[in-house]
Amino acid sequence: MTITKTGNAEIDQQHEILDTMVAELESLCLDAGQSPDTLCHECCQQKLCQTRLSAMVDRLGAFLAGHATYEERMMELLPDTPTCQSHVKAHKAAHQGLAKQLRKLGVQVSSDTPRAASTEVWRILGDWLGDHSSLFDNRLVRMTKSASPEIDFDSELVIMLDRHVFPNRPTAPKASKEGGSARQKAKVEIRGRIESLSPTQKNVFWLVVGGKKNREIAEELGITVNTVKTHRAAIFSKMDVSSVVELVKKTDVLR
Ligand SMILES: [Fe+2]
Ligand SMILES: [Fe+2]
Repeated sequence: MTITKTGNAEIDQQHEILDTMVAELESLCLDAGQSPDTLCHECCQQKLCQTRLSAMVDRLGAFLAGHATYEERMMELLPDTPTCQSHVKAHKAAHQGLAKQLRKLGVQVSSDTPRAASTEVWRILGDWLGDHSSLFDNRLVRMTKSASPEIDFDSELVIMLDRHVFPNRPTAPKASKEGGSARQKAKVEIRGRIESLSPTQKNVFWLVVGGKKNREIAEELGITVNTVKTHRAAIFSKMDVSSVVELVKKTDVLR
């Protein structure tokens, strides 16, 4: 799938993660060229595909919820002008629309054939990564950059993120030039660690970093609190940290 780059590293990275989930969908059924109905009804793997797809849809829903929260926090930085505020309204409505579509799909997955349902997931994600990105996300990034040139949106965004999305994070000072290459090294190391997380661990990871409590994560992902705790322990070990504060501090290097 072609991703529309917004130029905001954080948003683009999250879109790439979504794109990775799409690639997983592609491996669901190899006979993509055939009619979904005939194919699924004759296939003995139908139940298995249904279970896998339903888990994928849950994960996607949770990830998109976190992603929308991130972008909506960014919208809070936009100035109070009619143009910006109408963008905020339309953009938020688009996020809600997509979340609703995905919830509907969660039900559809169990009644439809897996291939028909996965085609629908494709369509929804294609919309998010394509039209939605170019219409709304791109514009959001452009607006925050150009609305008020005198405002340093980057540092504003960091302060805003500290306050709302990463409450435990101390505001990071801007990297000095000398510190640049050490920071670069740290970035590569941390990206590597994040890449080593399983898809489910990645979803839990984003929600933990976003300040969600175990109970909230369990609700969003439709799993038990104990399962969340197990994922959390695995994430801490892979990320080589012993607390959420440490995890957030470490992840902060990516910004
Ligand atoms: Fe968006
Ligand atoms: Fe987005």
